[in-house]
Amino acid sequence: MSNVSSERIPNNVDLASDRKLQRALEAWQPRFIDWWMEMGPEGFQSDQVYLRTAISVEADGWAHFDYVKMPDYRWGIFLTPPTQSRTIGFGDNLGKPVWDTVPGEHRNALRRLIVTQGDTEPASVEQQRLLGQTCPSLYDLRNLFQVNVEEGRHLWAMVYLLHSYFGRDGREEAEALLERRSGNEDKPRILGAFNEPCRHWLSFFMFTYFTDRDGKYQLLALAESGFDPLARTTRFMLTEEAHHMFVGETGVGRIVERTIELTQKNSNGDARAEGGIDLPTLQKYVNLWYSVSLDLFGGEISSNAANYFASGLKARAKEDRYEDHLVLDEVMSFEVPRADRSGFDRQDVPLRNAMNEVLRGEYVEDSQRGVDKWNRQLEEAGLAFRITLPSTRFHRATGLYAGLHFDPEGRLLSEAEWQAQKGQFLPTEDDETYVSSLMQRPIYEPGKMAHWIAPPAKGIKGRPIDFEYVRRQDI
Ligand SMILES: [Fe+2]
Ligand SMILES: [Fe+2]
Repeated sequence: MSNVSSERIPNNVDLASDRKLQRALEAWQPRFIDWWMEMGPEGFQSDQVYLRTAISVEADGWAHFDYVKMPDYRWGIFLTPPTQSRTIGFGDNLGKPVWDTVPGEHRNALRRLIVTQGDTEPASVEQQRLLGQTCPSLYDLRNLFQVNVEEGRHLWAMVYLLHSYFGRDGREEAEALLERRSGNEDKPRILGAFNEPCRHWLSFFMFTYFTDRDGKYQLLALAESGFDPLARTTRFMLTEEAHHMFVGETGVGRIVERTIELTQKNSNGDARAEGGIDLPTLQKYVNLWYSVSLDLFGGEISSNAANYFASGLKARAKEDRYEDHLVLDEVMSFEVPRADRSGFDRQDVPLRNAMNEVLRGEYVEDSQRGVDKWNRQLEEAGLAFRITLPSTRFHRATGLYAGLHFDPEGRLLSEAEWQAQKGQFLPTEDDETYVSSLMQRPIYEPGKMAHWIAPPAKGIKGRPIDFEYVRRQDI
């Protein structure tokens, strides 16, 4: 284990022994900081934030909690230690030793996987950069920044792989990761959900619940990779990712809790009249962020996905659970929309070509778990409303259902029907304006919560809820 405190770039990859790589990363570091100052949380860079920092990969001591200014955060490079004589666990190379260098024939595919993953990390920081200015509490402000700095570290993780294993074009890709901008028309981020605006905290909690969860499944699939450095990097990233989804799940749960109180307080059962976020509005944001996150898994039928699996680059989540790792005989059956929109035809697809859908299916199940918890809150309060996940056909921009319109139950709609009804399914400009109007002023008083959200059940790392999670410097 390297001595973290003495190094510019904390790491467990013995960076000091590879001068060339160390110099390359030390040259990239100031550019990263420039990007962070320009695109990271706006207005909080001199504040002391109570943050967790990854310092090793030991399960019981990997993180250190203390106050730190975000630009001084020690973004490090940590890989789960290698497993002795690990072999490839799936696809045509099943049973062969894993690769410690990039096999020439898979170079382009691997670089594409790493760049696509890497691009999401800074993108989310960019999407969330103004949210601190409307935070519902210091506790939430700290959680936002925790997510932001860790996404920054995930960028470092991918840049380490690009610099170490892909030579000149890897370095160019690492530069480009700092040049694209979320939502920018000329140089957008690679994936759709990461160009969606995240204007307020309701979207932030939905994003961390639904979109970070896509990240979890992509990382689980890459954690099986035959390219061992990628597998080990993504394994460690998963430990951090869990907190991001916790922020989303509990954030929405706290809104539901407050909404229940406000609904019951109002004689017409109208939470909006009491300055809260009513359940139908909450449902629209579920529909939005769930559907854009489903797109991140890619098309239902995909030769790329088949190739990634065949060559041992990207597996199913927790591949160990399956018996058959070759997957040459199975098929998955799809309902493919007819070109004339008159209905659907069944089509059997070799399962290797349906790997995106396999991963998406796991994600759908996992997403339902939090929804069930929110619904238990509603049930216990005696409210009839239930939050639902829309059909996987709803509001899709990639795959079989893109270009068509469906209602949340998955029924095909005409263009005219869609135009007439979409305001019931997805947030309208009025909804955006209303939700934003609840969050015009930040709350910086320790322990105090905005009106529209309930306090958390407990604080961070044993600290009380009214702990000063962020020490503001310039107010
Ligand atoms: Fe991440
Ligand atoms: Fe994340």
